[in-house]
Amino acid sequence: MRKVDLAQALAEAFGHLDAGRLPEARRLAREIERIQPAAPGLRYLQGLLALAAGDGRKAAQHLAGALRQTPDAPPPLLAMARAQVRQSRFEPAEAVYRRLIALAPDLAEAYDEWGALRLATDQPEAALLLFDRAAALRPALGHSWNCLGLAQRALGRWDEAARSFAHAIDAEGASATAHANLAAVLRHLRRPSESVVAARRAVALQPEVVGHWLELGQAERDAGNLAAAVAAFARAAGLDDGCIEAVWLQGECLAASGRRDEATACYRRVLAQDPADRFGAVLALAQLGAPPPPQAPAAFVRTLFDQYADRFEREMVEGLHYRGPQLLAAAVVRTLGDGPFDVFDAGCGTGLLGRALRPLAGRLDGVDLSPRMVGKAQGSGLYDEVRAGDLVAVLAARPALYDLVAATDVLIYLGDLQAVFAAAARALRPGGGFAFTIEAHGGDGYLLQDSRRFAHGLPYLRQQAAAAGFVWLSSEETSIRDDRGQPVPGYVVVLRKN
Ligand SMILES: C[S@@+](CC[C@H](N)C(=O)[O-])C[C@H]1O[C@@H](n2cnc3c(N)ncnc32)[C@H](O)[C@@H]1O
Repeated sequence: MRKVDLAQALAEAFGHLDAGRLPEARRLAREIERIQPAAPGLRYLQGLLALAAGDGRKAAQHLAGALRQTPDAPPPLLAMARAQVRQSRFEPAEAVYRRLIALAPDLAEAYDEWGALRLATDQPEAALLLFDRAAALRPALGHSWNCLGLAQRALGRWDEAARSFAHAIDAEGASATAHANLAAVLRHLRRPSESVVAARRAVALQPEVVGHWLELGQAERDAGNLAAAVAAFARAAGLDDGCIEAVWLQGECLAASGRRDEATACYRRVLAQDPADRFGAVLALAQLGAPPPPQAPAAFVRTLFDQYADRFEREMVEGLHYRGPQLLAAAVVRTLGDGPFDVFDAGCGTGLLGRALRPLAGRLDGVDLSPRMVGKAQGSGLYDEVRAGDLVAVLAARPALYDLVAATDVLIYLGDLQAVFAAAARALRPGGGFAFTIEAHGGDGYLLQDSRRFAHGLPYLRQQAAAAGFVWLSSEETSIRDDRGQPVPGYVVVLRKN
């Protein structure tokens, strides 16, 4: 091939690559390499081809060659950053983006892709600045607006996120993803009718995407259109029979519409597909007449609080006026004194009870089923030791180690308390205290409430306490938090081990 033919062949190969004709592009690249291995542009082409094949390492090798020839050229630098990301080498990728932006400060794609890396690595704040810049440089780049919306959503800036998704739709009218993202944000902003409109556009554009039907179902549900919601969830489940979330949501809407048999069938299907029961289908089935389980499934509690961990303190304290830890600490001081106690915080969550008990504590240990709640408690610096696990198992394995076992707003996930009381008694030294809060009902025994939390009757608690060898020190009738604007009736109870 002559020089001019080589240049033409290279241009042709790039053309094939852009049009997705990878075999043709590869064939030409091999041909050019055979004739002139150092042909300008060849290593860049090979780098892009390797990236298209998903081979980040090989791409990086070719692109390093290209950058030896043209060290400051933005296109191979951009491709090099992608090759590093593909290999999960995030720091080198950041370094390449930094250099790229220094060389080409107006290259919108560089900000956009760097932002995507930061969003994927859980740095929404830093991502937001980059998407902002990309969108300002190229307002028609719908991807940047969409990602800007995702970053704003991750930071809880819902109104701004809605505006960004709307911009993304203006820029790329046919972006089903942007419509679906907008629908989710509008739903969160309690604008269900608008959310339905956006979600319908998403499914019209991309009816094969399960997530869009899930979004539509939730929008219809929130707009009060339960039959339409059921139909949307059924479509999602029909597209992917492994999507148990769709079956679960369908069951919830059927139950809310009084279609109990169909709801029961959905919940049973959820349980069959996920015996660990992340959704708490056994609780839902109990509400439809099946016998209640002795406690909430561990996988359900773990999933619930893993999802809730980031919002827990704000929503509990500000939204639900949660005051269990303060009430329990005061009850402990009244009945057992002010310590210092070696304390076990059972179901410690993010550490709200730890904060209230720390002034009374010598040693303070905690356990919680949810690893993300445990992470928050560890981050609080309040505890000597916090670990993920089931409180009964951990207590039972630590005989006579503590002066105080405390649990606020935890026994609501346990119906049958026999094992908890026995484990607490085992973990306490003689004379030690067991202090906890419960939601109460007027009768005996325990029952599963509409909230899917358990409530206990005082006679049942007294009987369990006596059976485990506790003396009843005090029970204060109170409410530790609100639910739907109403104080939830309950008790703070303090027992002493004989
Ligand atoms: C409503 S939060 C209360 C957290 C904390 N006690 C407080 O007062 O802020 C309930 C916590 O109990 C935990 N939990 C429920 N059942 C548990 C169990 N069997 N073992 C350990 N933790 C449990 C949950 O994971 C969740 O973090």
